[in-house]
Amino acid sequence: MKRRQFIESAIGASALIITGRASARFAAARQSRSADSRIEILLNEPVGRIAPEIYGHFAEHLGGVVYDGIWVGEDSKVPNVGGIRKALIDALQRIKPSVVRWPGGCFADSYNWHDGVGPRSQRPRRTNFWRDASEWPKGVADGPWNYDTNQFGTNEFMRFCRLIGAQPYVAANVRSLTARDFYEWAEYCNSPAGTTTLADLRAAGGDREPFKVRFWGVGNESWGCGGNFTPEEYAAEYRRFTEWVPKFGIEPAFIGAGPNSGDLDWTRRFFTKMNERRALGRMWGWALHHYSWNVSGGRTSDWRQGKGDALKYPEEEWYELLRESDRMESLITDHWSVMAENDRQHRVKLVVDEWGAWYRPGTEAHTTHLFGQQSTMRDAVLAALTLNTFNRHADKVAMANVAQLINCLQSLFLAYGDKFVATPTFHVFAMYAAHQGGQSVRTVCSAPRPSYSRNGQPASVRGLSESASLLDRRLVLTIANPDATQARMAEIAIRGAVAKSIKNIVLAARDIHAYNSFESPRSVEPVETQMATSRLGSLVLEFPPASVTRLELMLE
Ligand code: AHR
Repeated sequence: MKRRQFIESAIGASALIITGRASARFAAARQSRSADSRIEILLNEPVGRIAPEIYGHFAEHLGGVVYDGIWVGEDSKVPNVGGIRKALIDALQRIKPSVVRWPGGCFADSYNWHDGVGPRSQRPRRTNFWRDASEWPKGVADGPWNYDTNQFGTNEFMRFCRLIGAQPYVAANVRSLTARDFYEWAEYCNSPAGTTTLADLRAAGGDREPFKVRFWGVGNESWGCGGNFTPEEYAAEYRRFTEWVPKFGIEPAFIGAGPNSGDLDWTRRFFTKMNERRALGRMWGWALHHYSWNVSGGRTSDWRQGKGDALKYPEEEWYELLRESDRMESLITDHWSVMAENDRQHRVKLVVDEWGAWYRPGTEAHTTHLFGQQSTMRDAVLAALTLNTFNRHADKVAMANVAQLINCLQSLFLAYGDKFVATPTFHVFAMYAAHQGGQSVRTVCSAPRPSYSRNGQPASVRGLSESASLLDRRLVLTIANPDATQARMAEIAIRGAVAKSIKNIVLAARDIHAYNSFESPRSVEPVETQMATSRLGSLVLEFPPASVTRLELMLE
């Protein structure tokens, strides 16, 4: 079965060798030895500003994401702020979550926003899009995961965004609502207090002032669950939905439902059709979805058969998953080239609003958490590889949203009742937050490629993965070492400046399968080292196997 079918249903004055506190834990990697890798940071070659929105999130009404994960209700024993899980708010505030996409995913094209406004006690219960998913374990109880109570609607989502300091990104229903419903949702969210009946309804729900929503998704996966359109049909729908939407002083950033991974045909035909009608100016972003799921080593491309387990994986599956995720680089550059055929100036940017690892069921925190899965060091390295890629392509990628925030696919958190834990992926987001708003600068990396046996044949993946950004005189460099067993010793050369101090933070574990659980929430967490030096132009640093490192260097 295909996923599509499934959806349809400078060397300077001195050099220094560092083996930080974290890496010192790895006996095998402790010997001082000469560098086998090299990373050059070209400060005078800017790529583009790293949009904070690249560090975005995604929350869908799916399994345990909203009900249980985000929303526990005001009367819950679980500590909450107006019904929203407090532990989640506290944790998110630490990582600058720039933007949250909601309410789906596939759910978005079945969601009637009218159901989720007005007094909570009077809101209707509706069948959730995911109710009939075949992945549900047998005997799952009924609840808001299959019959949505609409307790978490527009006002609740906007309050969640305000509490965590994120911008809202609302995905509108194109498959089963009208263009009028779309512009009325914009009116409900953004019309000034007291001007419209919908602004009064919003005020009655507790929010007199407009939400000032800027990001609007025009459908989701319109090639599949979002309507099974052809690119030409979807282009017509897109134009109709965006032809008139009231602005209220906020220029809407409309985001088109883009391709599934490498589907260049969807991008080419949609852009061609839009250009024929001179309508590309009405699009801010083009949404690419890419999940890393097939760890079969080429044995199958079946959507179910190709998946592996989140916790139990042989070394081959470690590498296969990282290889899948590292396709992100060519996906970005390939779609970007095709977009240029009709959009030479590149006014439309890429929005990777669903990305992450997808495993087979079995490691969810609770049976009601459809697509819930554990998250290990493998997911942390996957996240680091992907975020490095986005940073290196900061001129092309305007937003990205990891799928999904809590209790789902590559999640930052798992929660059930009053239990709550942050995954290794959370720690990567916490480490990488320092890139937000920085100027991405070009890097050149050479490192030996880890080799492995792929279905009996020799294969290899990228050596080190890196990205660098500069904000004022602070240089942030993030590096992932995908090698499951070997540490790398890399010479890092800063071209164009010298550094006066360095801070090193490393996320690593003895076992590539390490993860955090409710019982052992701190099995995987970063370790920080502070180093002071004078006129540091290059350094040699050891990167433990299967690790993620962030260096913060203050430049002279
Ligand atoms: O993230 C889970 C689902 O994956 C989303 O609802 C859909 O857009 C994608 O296929």
